[in-house]
Amino acid sequence: MGILEVYNPLDIEIDHGDGVYLYSTDGTRYLDFTSGIGVTSLGHSHPSLVNALKDQGDKLWHCSNLFRINGQELVAKRIVKNSFASKVFFCNSGAESVEAGIKVVRKYFNSKGSDKYKIICAKNSFHGRTYAAISTSGKSKLTDGFFPILEGFEQVEFNDIKDLKKKVDKKTAAIMIETVQGEGGIIPANKQYLKEVQKIAKDNELLLFFDEVQCGVGRTGKFLATEWVKELKPNLVSIAKGIGGGFPLGALLLDKKTSDVMKRGAHGSTFGGNPLGMAVANEVLNYVLDEDFLDNIREVGYNMRKLLKSEVIPRFPKLLSGVRGIGLMIGLECIQKNEILINAMIKEKLLTVRAGQNVIRILPPLILEIKHVDEAISKMIKAFESL
Ligand SMILES: Cc1ncc(COP(=O)(O)O)c(C=O)c1O
Repeated sequence: MGILEVYNPLDIEIDHGDGVYLYSTDGTRYLDFTSGIGVTSLGHSHPSLVNALKDQGDKLWHCSNLFRINGQELVAKRIVKNSFASKVFFCNSGAESVEAGIKVVRKYFNSKGSDKYKIICAKNSFHGRTYAAISTSGKSKLTDGFFPILEGFEQVEFNDIKDLKKKVDKKTAAIMIETVQGEGGIIPANKQYLKEVQKIAKDNELLLFFDEVQCGVGRTGKFLATEWVKELKPNLVSIAKGIGGGFPLGALLLDKKTSDVMKRGAHGSTFGGNPLGMAVANEVLNYVLDEDFLDNIREVGYNMRKLLKSEVIPRFPKLLSGVRGIGLMIGLECIQKNEILINAMIKEKLLTVRAGQNVIRILPPLILEIKHVDEAISKMIKAFESL
C-alpha cells in the first residue's frame, strides 16, 4: 500500500543482517547470496562500516560540493593510485555513473570538434533505468512504453567481434560494455574478445567504456574486472553497488584524456561524494584493495564453482546444466525455470537472484568463507531434492 508497484517483493520482511546472514522479522535466518544485488560487499552490519558511518554521522552528514570534502579527496586519491583512472566523479547510483560516462563520451568528441557521437553497446546488456541507460541496452523490456528513447546507441552481439567490426562507422565514438554481464545472465567478456575490442577502439579512435557497476570493486577477485586482461586500457569505467557496501554511491573513473575535457560546471550532483558515502567507501577500499582479500574472493569463488560442478549439477540433470562466472559472480544455468529453483532454495533459507538466460545469480558478500559455501551447497541439494 502506498508504494508504486514497480517491484514484486517476496513476502519476507527483513529485520536485520549480520555478515552473510539476513534475519526476517519472524526470526528466520537466511544465508544471503544476493548481497542486495551485489551491493553489501563486506556483508551486513560490518563493524568497520558501521563505525565509519557512526563516526562520520557525528561529525558531518552533508555540505555539498560547494565545499572541499576531505573524504572525497582521499577516496579519489586511493582509486587513482590503484587503477587506470586519473580522476573520479562521484554520484549516487549505477545508472548515474553510466549516465555520466555517456556525457563524457559526447563531450570528449564535441570538444575536439568531431561529429562522432554513436556509442556501440551490447545486446543483452543492462546499464540502469535512466533514459540514456535504457537507450543503451535497447531491450524492449526496458524501453516499452517510454518512447522516444535517446538516439545514438547501437547494439551488437556480446562476445562477437565480427558483429562489432561491422557496426563501427565514421560516427562511432565509443564502445560501452559490461566487463561481465550481470543481469543478462553472468556472462564474462572473453579475454580475446576484449583484446580485439581494444584494437578496434585504437584503430578507429574510439573511447572504451566499461560498466563495472556489478562486476567491479572486487566482485571478480580484482579491484576492476578489466584488470583480468592486463593489456586493456579503459578510458572510462563506471562503478557503484559494492563501493558503498550498502550506502548509495556510484563513481565514474576517467583516464587523463577524458577527464581533461570535463571542465567546471560540465556535470555535477548535489549528493555525489557526500561525507557519509565517502567515509564508508574509504573503509570498503581498505578491503577490496587488499591483495589477500582479493585472493580469498578468487579462491572461494573457484571452490564454489568446483563444488557446484561436482556435487550439485550432476545430481540434478533435469534441473541444471552448468555453471559460469568469475570470482564471486556466479551463474547457475538452469533447465527447469530458474524461479522454481530459487523458490525451493528460499524454503531452505538460501537467497539467490534471478538473471537473464534462465540463470540463477549467486552474488554472496565478498567476505564469504568456504564454510558458508558448504552450507549453501547442502541447502541447494536439499532444495533441489524436493522438486
Ligand atoms: C551493470 C549495471 N549497470 C548499471 C546498473 C544500474 O545501477 P543502479 O540500479 O544503481 O542505478 C546495474 C544495476 O543492476 C548494473 O548491473
